[in-house]
Amino acid sequence: MIKGFIFDLDGVITDTAELHYEAWKNLSDAMGWHFDRGLNESLRGISRMDSIKAIMDHNKIELEPGMVEELAERKNKIYVDSLGGMTEQDYLPGARELLTHLRNEGFGVALGSSSKNAVMVLQQLNAIRYFDFIGDGNTVAKSKPAPDIFLYAAQQLKLPPAQCLVVEDAEKGVDAAKTGGFYSVGIGPKERVGHADLRFDSMGEATLFEIKSHFKDLF
Ligand code: G6P
Ligand code: MG
Repeated sequence: MIKGFIFDLDGVITDTAELHYEAWKNLSDAMGWHFDRGLNESLRGISRMDSIKAIMDHNKIELEPGMVEELAERKNKIYVDSLGGMTEQDYLPGARELLTHLRNEGFGVALGSSSKNAVMVLQQLNAIRYFDFIGDGNTVAKSKPAPDIFLYAAQQLKLPPAQCLVVEDAEKGVDAAKTGGFYSVGIGPKERVGHADLRFDSMGEATLFEIKSHFKDLF
């Protein structure tokens, strides 16, 4: 039986991909590196340090670890500044409705995000209240596609993975859910999250009714 839901944040509850894009683009332009939306797409779900390494690999750049950290921090400052403008209006359509519904029906609800800024994003959205546990980029050492963040969140909900459903928009996030033994709902195109147990094009379609209808034997 499904008793808990574990949500990714960026691309599931709110769409921060554009803000990440602008911040990485800003840093890349300053460094003379190439960065485009295609490359930004490949960073979905992966940590800040893995992201900068991927951008540097793409540009065939090698730098000292301290410098890489400094540049990642510079990008983060730009990103965090842009979060200041985020409000309760910035949920992806359907996300708040699903969270409210889950709360009303008594499911355990956790966040399993790779972002170290997750708490700030949830505060901007006034969404802290929907979660029993918030797992973010500071919670575990190994980030997605490792299943660690979801396993930790399930443990906090006191549920085994087989009783939890992970909601993810990233290919590597769905990989993490599957490796951890969770049921998965993918949000986005088939090419990205077609390997999830159930897929919707957008959060607006991911209602509790639709999810229950698909996983009939599990509710
Ligand atoms: C999410 C996003 C990624 C981002 C990561 C780390 O998983 O999808 O694009 O790189 O979080 O975010 P942070 O806020 O810690 O830089
Ligand atoms: Mg995501």
